[in-house]
Amino acid sequence: MISKTKITQLIKQHGTPLFILDHNKLRLNYRTFKKNLPRVQCYYAVKANTHPEIIKTLFTEGSSFDVASYNEFMQVYKYIKHFEEKDKDFFIWDKIIFSNTIKDKETLAKIKRYRPLVTFDNNDELKKIKSCCDTAGLILRLKVPDTGSQVEMSSKFGAEPGDAAQLLRKAHDAGLVVEGLSFHVGSQCTNFDNYTAALSITSEIMNHARKKGYNIKIIDIGGGFPVPYDSQVPEFEKLAGIINSECQRLFPADVEIIAEPGRFIVATAATLITEIIGKARRDGKIFYYINDGVYHTFSGVVFDHWIPNFTAFRNGKEEVCAVVGQTCDSFDKVSLSVQLPANLRIGDYLLTENIGAYSIASSTHFNGFDGAKILHINLKS
Ligand SMILES: Cc1ncc(COP(=O)(O)O)c(C=O)c1O
Repeated sequence: MISKTKITQLIKQHGTPLFILDHNKLRLNYRTFKKNLPRVQCYYAVKANTHPEIIKTLFTEGSSFDVASYNEFMQVYKYIKHFEEKDKDFFIWDKIIFSNTIKDKETLAKIKRYRPLVTFDNNDELKKIKSCCDTAGLILRLKVPDTGSQVEMSSKFGAEPGDAAQLLRKAHDAGLVVEGLSFHVGSQCTNFDNYTAALSITSEIMNHARKKGYNIKIIDIGGGFPVPYDSQVPEFEKLAGIINSECQRLFPADVEIIAEPGRFIVATAATLITEIIGKARRDGKIFYYINDGVYHTFSGVVFDHWIPNFTAFRNGKEEVCAVVGQTCDSFDKVSLSVQLPANLRIGDYLLTENIGAYSIASSTHFNGFDGAKILHINLKS
């Protein structure tokens, strides 16, 4: 946690709302991921936080990237371009995976020249890839259990495991090459059985495919790696131990394992400071109005099912309060149940930690508010 003195100094210098992104923490998270999962190449899921400085820092650390759109693709490609020019062995798959299973035709046509690695999970997508981007290497995304994850994925993405054989055959018949299999167990997955089940489903399909002569070379274990938002969250190190031993048991050494962590890399790297700009008692409860909200940095409350934390800088008798946003919209309620001192005043500050993922990435300009100022600390020049 950043010290109170440092925070006071930063507020004086930059004002609020202030989104402080600590690049040392970003590097530490990346290194922790790599250290605990030595066989796994990390493709940071850019969607979690698309800020170019994050991509730059992670790129320098050696990360690869998972992108969901043409713009994200180009945001990353900008950094690898010079690599490509210098290194004749450079291979774009080592740096980017396009893991949005549904892509429009224009996007496919635009990325065709880069010979990308792309995911798919249905026959219509295969047809689109064939007609607009037949240079691509394919990854078949599978539907896997996501029970208990903060954000479930399997209702929208992933082929039924029972359809995998048919999709592999259709791709082959179309002259496309399926290079690997992928899954996503749901974001902020604290039920590690989801990973065990997904790895087992994937290895069964891989073995079956290999017997049929399809050379599956890549297993993409997706994202979902949990962030310690509270003390109930089981440790990442424990999950890594499970993944390592299951991968060793299920996948031969010639299989490349990759992952697409988003939240794990970036969530704990950011802290937000907001200011109380209004206070009212409504139906007996104190409402603190802050200069941010769910249309801005707290967008994860809506899109990510995230429950934010708040720390006040003034001591006092606490009660259950509401923290609500600045917009002229009644939906803009950040939390209706936060234990906070009742004596906070207009002009006081609130601090929210672990707000790096799915926050500024989905912030809007609703009501004409710009959103928090982004301050980078511990950037390497
Ligand atoms: C395909 C894909 N990969 C990776 C991620 C990142 O997941 P997480 O932030 O849970 O690590 C997502 C999140 O939506 C995703 O859709």
